[in-house]
Amino acid sequence: MDLSITVNGMKFPNPFLLGSGPPGTNARVLAKSYDAGWGGAVAKTVSLESAKVVNVVPRYGKLRSRSTGEVIGFENIELISDRPIDVWLDEFRQIKKEYPNNILIASIMEEYEKSRWQELVRMVQDTGVDGFELNFSCPHGMTERKMGSEMGEHPDLTEEVTSWVTEVSKIPVWAKMTPNITNIREPAAAAIAGGAVGISAINTILSVIGVDLDTLRPMPTVEGHCVPGGYSAQAVRPIALRMVSQLALAIPEDVSISGIGGIENSHDALEFMLLGSSTVQICTGVMLQGVKMIDELKEGVEKFMVDKGFSSVQEIVGKSLPYFSTHMDLVQRMKAAKRSKAGEASRDNEWAQKDITEKTAELTSN
Ligand SMILES: Cc1cc2nc3c(=O)[nH]c(=O)nc-3n(C[C@H](O)[C@H](O)[C@H](O)COP(=O)(O)O)c2cc1C
Repeated sequence: MDLSITVNGMKFPNPFLLGSGPPGTNARVLAKSYDAGWGGAVAKTVSLESAKVVNVVPRYGKLRSRSTGEVIGFENIELISDRPIDVWLDEFRQIKKEYPNNILIASIMEEYEKSRWQELVRMVQDTGVDGFELNFSCPHGMTERKMGSEMGEHPDLTEEVTSWVTEVSKIPVWAKMTPNITNIREPAAAAIAGGAVGISAINTILSVIGVDLDTLRPMPTVEGHCVPGGYSAQAVRPIALRMVSQLALAIPEDVSISGIGGIENSHDALEFMLLGSSTVQICTGVMLQGVKMIDELKEGVEKFMVDKGFSSVQEIVGKSLPYFSTHMDLVQRMKAAKRSKAGEASRDNEWAQKDITEKTAELTSN
């Protein structure tokens, strides 16, 4: 079955993308995911001085279900890629040469300086990548240097930086939103005003995964100390779905949405698509299950399409959005339904009553 979808001029063989993070951390793992059947990938975020990035250990923490032990929430304090930009440029080239039909999106992040952003854009687009995702959303570490979510939390910066990028970019630009904000529509509108043609949502939610009751240290603990990190995996999915639906109802139709947050199987992916995502990205799910999870994703969506009579992935996108309403409207609908049920009940009563009366008449006439 054809699962392809064309988004902002990019033809994805299927709507499933690796989300930026460990699953797309070098050419070898990206190639492995394309071989497994993924339609596209957003590579791990790079910047001009990636080589200066120092990632700490441990940098992950897990929240497990009390009853089953299954991982339901995941926290990380991982920064962007720590591999030199020159290595990345070679690998982007190599991947595009070997996999011309799979979509490769470069996730980029820089300091608040026009020349740096534009230099990075020029360098990366020369490698032949299909699109950019601007990381305005990494919630930890880089904010100290006014990078990542520091930009996504300030719509004026979001618009300005996006416009620096779109001024020199010849390929589609998506902006990745932070959920650590009250109204996600504001930075999204700013990115669109700056020229973004797609919105990716969401990055991780600021969190502290727990506290060790023996040592009294918050986790993940690095040499006895800790910083809040980013929360992902299935626990964040309802929040991500809410934000994606809010975006889908607010942004212009020609701006695409790439839905992210706690997707672990085809059921979850379909929810994001029904709420307006043309593509979906999976990061923690791939870390926990491996790239082979693509088989179930494809099979599940194919089965859904057959069962529900959809002939293309595009037809699924946004199908559930018309059912969002206002609370006032829900109350009116409930009252109307109650009235019509009461009406039905009283009609049933009349019929029952008529039945009895007619029967009694019949009996008495005999
Ligand atoms: C360990 C880890 C590293 C991540 N690194 C990046 C990154 O470099 N750039 C980025 O835009 N998002 C990064 N993310 C965020 C994910 O791409 C994704 O937005 C988020 O985790 C929610 O999706 P998920 O529940 O499928 O993981 C990272 C997430 C994790 C768990």
